[in-house]
Amino acid sequence: MFATVRLRALTDTLGVDDPQYRQESTFTAAQWRRRLREHAQFAAMLDGRPVGLIGAQQESAENVYLYSLWLDPAARGHGLARTLVEAALEWARGRHARVVTLRVAVDNTVARGVYESLGFTPVGEGVNARDEVSMSLSVR
Ligand SMILES: CC(C)(COP(=O)(O)OP(=O)(O)OC[C@H]1O[C@@H](n2cnc3c(N)ncnc32)[C@H](O)[C@@H]1OP(=O)(O)O)[C@@H](O)C(=O)NCCC(=O)NCCS
Repeated sequence: MFATVRLRALTDTLGVDDPQYRQESTFTAAQWRRRLREHAQFAAMLDGRPVGLIGAQQESAENVYLYSLWLDPAARGHGLARTLVEAALEWARGRHARVVTLRVAVDNTVARGVYESLGFTPVGEGVNARDEVSMSLSVR
């Protein structure tokens, strides 16, 4: 189930020609299991169907990094993104993390609004080479 929804998210956001999609679309079952062992993944369910995802990676004892927040276009606009991020924040607290960080495209106002509504603030001034800003939230 995770592989299917993850590949759907990559297709929707990056397209099938993107290197990330090309790489993950060839993953074996063992590689998917490894991903699930290394990172926590949270799914949003609607009528028993997975319609969204977010990944969380413990980078150090104190830091958790969130990535790849995605909602199926048909499931957007109902607050599910916030619910997904909140689940990942809860997980980070349970792991005794101190700070949760993420990166978001400068022009992604919807995603930035979701993060800001949960208290995330931009880190530093600049954007990286991929036009993304870093945001962080203290969870202790
Ligand atoms: C970003 C994303 C996860 C948000 O999901 P969502 O479930 O629609 O989010 P929400 O329903 O919580 O909406 C968040 C807010 O944005 C508003 N919003 C939603 N779509 C909008 C749009 N097209 N234009 C303006 N505002 C919009 C909502 O009304 C809501 O505002 P509110 O909290 O004041 O009510 C979703 O749009 C998505 O998957 N986008 C593609 C992938 C992506 O960009 N991921 C983020 C990577 S960092």
